[in-house]
Amino acid sequence: MAFPEGFMWGGATAANQCEGGYDQGGRGLANVDVCPHGEDRFPVMLGLKHISQVDSEHYFPALEGVDFYHRWKEDIALYGKMGFKTYRMSIAWTRIFPNGDDAEPNEEGLRFYEDVFKECRKWGIEPLVTITHFDCPMHLIQEYGGWKNRKLVELYKRLVAVLFERYKGLVRYWLTFNEINMILALPFMGAGLTFDEGEDQTASKYRAAHHELVASAWATKIAHEVDPQNRVGCMLAGGRFYPLTPEPADVLEAMRRDNENYFFTDVQARGAYPAYALKFMEREGIDIPWQEGDREILAQNTVDFISFSYYSSRCATTHKDEMGGQTSGNVFASVKNPYLKASEWGWQIDPTGLRITLNSLYERYQKPLFVVENGLGAKDELVDDGNGGKTVIDDYRIDYLRSHIKEMDDAITYDGVELWGYTTWGPIDLVSASTGEMSKRYGFVYVDRDDAGKGSLERYPKKSFGWYKKVIATNGADL
Ligand code: BG6
Repeated sequence: MAFPEGFMWGGATAANQCEGGYDQGGRGLANVDVCPHGEDRFPVMLGLKHISQVDSEHYFPALEGVDFYHRWKEDIALYGKMGFKTYRMSIAWTRIFPNGDDAEPNEEGLRFYEDVFKECRKWGIEPLVTITHFDCPMHLIQEYGGWKNRKLVELYKRLVAVLFERYKGLVRYWLTFNEINMILALPFMGAGLTFDEGEDQTASKYRAAHHELVASAWATKIAHEVDPQNRVGCMLAGGRFYPLTPEPADVLEAMRRDNENYFFTDVQARGAYPAYALKFMEREGIDIPWQEGDREILAQNTVDFISFSYYSSRCATTHKDEMGGQTSGNVFASVKNPYLKASEWGWQIDPTGLRITLNSLYERYQKPLFVVENGLGAKDELVDDGNGGKTVIDDYRIDYLRSHIKEMDDAITYDGVELWGYTTWGPIDLVSASTGEMSKRYGFVYVDRDDAGKGSLERYPKKSFGWYKKVIATNGADL
């Protein structure tokens, strides 16, 4: 059997997309709370339009999410019944430090996650915790300019020290920043960055990224000091770039686009800025705010494993006439690959690309890998299940997941890639990060809630629920 014993099957969510309870339990306001549904969403996520508080003009889907804050026991029981070995979730920074720079952590927030982790353990589920999944306290954005400011490194260090101490023995697997490369594509949503007119946005993003990279290395160091059993991973929005044509210029362009993303994991896994990045920054006049000790911290605290999200491969070209056919997959601009079909949201579907991405990352770093997001966002129809209840017949989702799991199997069997686990995105329907919609559903469990925030929030297992349960029970043998 390809999947090793102890393979960590499960699902992944993020606080800002499922938790809700934004003003409860002493929680403060975060950037992710003020990303509205509707036409203002993209300008806000890009840091070009500023919304700093909840207003009545917009609908903010993260404020309630799918109410995990109140329904966590019910949701974890559903994961337990599917046989999850792991559950990837994130901490809302503002539940622990409501303003980000408070003198003391918020006990109510700490207790909330402690209860959640204990509940997971009751079901034999190993928590895999993302420390920040896009969220940054609003106060830190308004007071300091978010990750542009070095002060955030210190505040993040305080956050992680509190988490590692408090959850010692309860949590062993940690991810420092979700899709750290997303800072380039969605700077406000990804890192709380806003821009002034005339500001060199590229330079600001890389300077802020430096702070995150240093903070990530510090977190790795502190995690290992607090408990040598802790395992810390980086997290990349993954998916290889293919050249659209075999023309060398296209191959080079695909390599360049890959390197934009690998820059982050190169620093986190190898411990130093790669040569191509240093040259790029020199050319662009990007002045990285190095401080004494940064190079040593980066070099001495590389991650234990590489995690990534995979929804699709990407495609690059230098042929101007082909560039019009862009596809929307995972926010990173990519040219349409003529060989691939796409989801209802235009995200192209490429299971083989997962095997290619796994190989690329394993070759590059020779560290264990973890696929921490993968899935199909699709419209679902709730129908009668024939037993007086309701369900969704989501064979399209099963097909998508099956084909990707097969490729992981091949990557292990034929290529020898070391893969620790697989957590599908959104095991329960949750708010879409890119669109703020509920109708873009990924779950094994349907949640009765619509794009306007209406619905009972009732949960209904879909057909894929039973299918994934069987996959886990057979350790991937019966797909
Ligand atoms: C990843 C993010 O980019 O993709 C998740 O880490 C996100 O937060 C997921 O939800 C799927 O994207 P979307 O836009 O369909 O929710």
